[in-house]
Amino acid sequence: MSIKGFTDIHCHIIPTVDDGAQNMKEAQEMIRLAYAGDTRRIIATPHYGTSRAKASGGIIVARFRELLRWTEDNYPEMELFLGQELTYSHGLEKQIDRGSAFTMAGSRYALVEFQPEDDYSRIRQGLQSVQLAGYWPILAHAERCQRLASHIEYVDELVHMGIYIQINARSVTGGNGWQCKSCAKKLLKQELVHFVASDGHDTKKRTPVLLKAMTYIAKRYGKKYALQLSVENPGKVISDIFID
Ligand SMILES: [Fe+2]
Repeated sequence: MSIKGFTDIHCHIIPTVDDGAQNMKEAQEMIRLAYAGDTRRIIATPHYGTSRAKASGGIIVARFRELLRWTEDNYPEMELFLGQELTYSHGLEKQIDRGSAFTMAGSRYALVEFQPEDDYSRIRQGLQSVQLAGYWPILAHAERCQRLASHIEYVDELVHMGIYIQINARSVTGGNGWQCKSCAKKLLKQELVHFVASDGHDTKKRTPVLLKAMTYIAKRYGKKYALQLSVENPGKVISDIFID
């Protein structure tokens, strides 16, 4: 694999704030794994608006800073940024406006998650309301939304509306079951994906590693596309540059 320096835009790496890293040691081990897999920038995205969220605001920022300091000392080539995975509920855009829900690395991009069983009209209207408030929505792990997996044309419609699509690396390599893998492959084939991210939660099963999936994507769909999904587009999120 000759693509170097992945940017992972979806990772639950901040310790004790959600169902991701359960302590500082686990978060440090996740950094080590990510680094070994050629990731050099991570947007930490703790849950917001779900029972999986165990902390908010100031506590998240404090724990993030602690992990940032350790990373700067031990992996100076690794950069960390703060974002959040926002579970959609009515009025989410107002919570972003108020600053209680975080965008991605302080940019206009917002990572928005829906329940796997949510219907398409809720997904479309929810993303639209975030978009109309001036944010650039990224739909988290689109392949896990059952309605989208069975109707790829809905994803096409979302992309034409200006919604960005993120899929999980683990879905590409089959770790999330055949339905997710099949959907991820269809989306990749039709070039309806903007980001491949780890959605890493731990060091064993849901690891913060992109290398295996990106090697597969580069081989199957071309190096140029793989580069876009794991380096170029994520870089634009951090720089707050519009992706067209
Ligand atoms: Fe997530």
